[in-house]
Amino acid sequence: MASLPSIEFVAKDAPAKGVLVVLAGKDAGLAAGAGDAVRSLVSRAAGIAKFKGKHLATLDVLAPADVDADRLLVVGTHADKPLTDEDWLKLGGIIAAKTKGASEVTIHCERADGDVSAAEAAMLAAGASLRAYDFDLYKTKSSRKNGEDEPKVASKIALAVADVAAAMDAYAVQEAIAAGTMLARDLVNEPANVLGPVEFADRIAALSQQGIDVEILGEAQLRELKMGALLGVAQGSPRPPRLAIMRWNGGPDDEAPIAFVGKGVVFDTGGISIKPAGSMDEMKGDMGGAAAVVGVMRALAGRSAKVNAIGIVGLVENSVDGNAQRPGDIVTAMSGTTIEVLNTDAEGRLVLADALWYCQDRFKPKFMVNLATLTGAIIVALGNQHAGLFSNNDELSDRLLAAGIGAGEKVWRLPLAPEYDKMIEGKFADIKNIGGGRAAGAITAAQFLQRFVNDVPWAHLDVAGTAMGSPANEYNQSWASGFGVRLLDRLVSDHYQAG
Ligand code: BES
Ligand code: MN
Ligand code: ZN
Repeated sequence: MASLPSIEFVAKDAPAKGVLVVLAGKDAGLAAGAGDAVRSLVSRAAGIAKFKGKHLATLDVLAPADVDADRLLVVGTHADKPLTDEDWLKLGGIIAAKTKGASEVTIHCERADGDVSAAEAAMLAAGASLRAYDFDLYKTKSSRKNGEDEPKVASKIALAVADVAAAMDAYAVQEAIAAGTMLARDLVNEPANVLGPVEFADRIAALSQQGIDVEILGEAQLRELKMGALLGVAQGSPRPPRLAIMRWNGGPDDEAPIAFVGKGVVFDTGGISIKPAGSMDEMKGDMGGAAAVVGVMRALAGRSAKVNAIGIVGLVENSVDGNAQRPGDIVTAMSGTTIEVLNTDAEGRLVLADALWYCQDRFKPKFMVNLATLTGAIIVALGNQHAGLFSNNDELSDRLLAAGIGAGEKVWRLPLAPEYDKMIEGKFADIKNIGGGRAAGAITAAQFLQRFVNDVPWAHLDVAGTAMGSPANEYNQSWASGFGVRLLDRLVSDHYQAG
């Protein structure tokens, strides 16, 4: 994996080393602390280049002689609205990218209108780290440009801040969240020949090092639990399924947990209702929901969040062999509901049916949020910019919407209604696993899931368009985005953690 920059925080009056980065506000205004020489140079250069200090605009200048740095990078921070957390991540990303290859960078964390807060500096540093992420595990030296590692960012980034201790504390939190995001990215980017259900479960088991309790259920146990819906999907692959249960107990012993549930289809061929060949390779990412659940558990543990949280992921391969389930098969889910499998490619909802039922049955959580790369239809509706949100609870839904804006992982609510529920009524069984043709495909999938939540407050995030293949941005250059980790971590820190 491409190496991440080393991040450190230094006092504001420490001498700058390497590339000096200064933050410009409206009309390229700099903080007084930037020094007279730098300020007058930047003001002249900004005039020539028509640099106005707009958020994410940059201006490269040679450093004046009396500054200990060799290069000066001016980065705009001016916007009409106050900068969001995501805006700070983006600033970190752009700075990291513009200084790639430098051995040292010093970022002067002050703006014309005052200091950059510890939280903002931490976010900026996290953005630089996330920008460095590159899934290059399988690129041998000879296929890399120049035959060697191309640096993605600077190797060492120092942030000169007003309060070093406060910034370090804030960064410890952001670093844990970024590690969760990068873990999710890794899992999604990993090809399915490497990451089957068993290997995925092994990676989860390794999280016990972070203080997470991990339980892995194998095929025999799933059979005992009567998870007929999940097992039906798994039966077409020689690779056996797993159900992984993660527990982070950071809250009071007697407090009910919150729960995250993920679709972990390590590869989705479609089964007998096989998918067309074009872009089928992308179905290695059909475990993006599960990856986000694992990532957020890693984040919560890494920052010792004061919350009790459960993560459950159903891990299967939807493949096709002589034993694969057929269209028309009827399976019985753990809840007792019978399901007509009319399309074996609508497999995610079958996996989640049993994972959701098991979750509420065993843990009686305060709420469940599930994440799944569930439908192509959600991409038609929302593209790659918002995940679909479906919920039986307005409070939970509103909190997710707000957390999404804060974290820069946006969601958009779509409806659930009895009229849509009717569309999944079965002919030979209680329900069927597809709705009516192409109409309301993302909604009928959500209605299907709702049949298995037993009235527990619940939200479903359809991340088919956001977990992977979303356009690269300032802090993500990878196919897999790690979408959901920052969002759910934010949901927890905004509403569900003690202290
Ligand atoms: N994993 C797919 C959904 C998907 C599509 C995710 C594209 C990411 C990118 C899911 O299992 C699926 O195949 N859904 C079908 C449902 C249909 C058969 C009712 C779909 O969306 O076409
Ligand atoms: Mn499918
Ligand atoms: Zn799928």
